[in-house]
Amino acid sequence: MRGKVYTLSVPSVKYYKEADFFGLASGRDTDKFKATGLTPEMGEHIDAPYVGEFPMILECKVVHHHELGLHTHFVGEIVDVKVDDEVLDDSGRPDVAKVQPFVFSPDAREYHLIGSRLGTAFKDGRGIMEKKEG
Ligand SMILES: Cc1cc2nc3c(=O)[nH]c(=O)nc-3n(C[C@H](O)[C@H](O)[C@H](O)COP(=O)(O)O)c2cc1C
Repeated sequence: MRGKVYTLSVPSVKYYKEADFFGLASGRDTDKFKATGLTPEMGEHIDAPYVGEFPMILECKVVHHHELGLHTHFVGEIVDVKVDDEVLDDSGRPDVAKVQPFVFSPDAREYHLIGSRLGTAFKDGRGIMEKKEG
């Protein structure tokens, strides 16, 4: 992190091994871009690189940080979002099914795919709310 700014580069499943490598190696002694063949692109609004091949990028400025003991918790302001055109839905929003991000399960030390569409947020639980009030 340079000058209290950072980028979040969201990898799609096809880059999960590169993402794992990014977490295994240290930038102190390894050029992670060179090792993976991925492309460093400089942020438009901040002085920090992001991964050119990844479909979704957030450019962020640190607004707070909290020392938690073992870890430091950073709170960032998102100053720009970049999403590849091919992963947008018909209304221009990022489509999770096209971005194809994945999740990390820390205890199992596994990466998992995100499944298919389950339902509609802020709507599918309303039936329970109405039963409670009625
Ligand atoms: C799957 C995975 C999860 C990780 N989670 C964290 C984490 O939550 N916090 C952390 O400080 N390091 C975590 N690490 C370790 C860092 O990614 C590792 O120290 C990092 O590669 C150091 O790179 P740097 O020296 O270039 O910053 C994780 C590594 C992997 C492979």
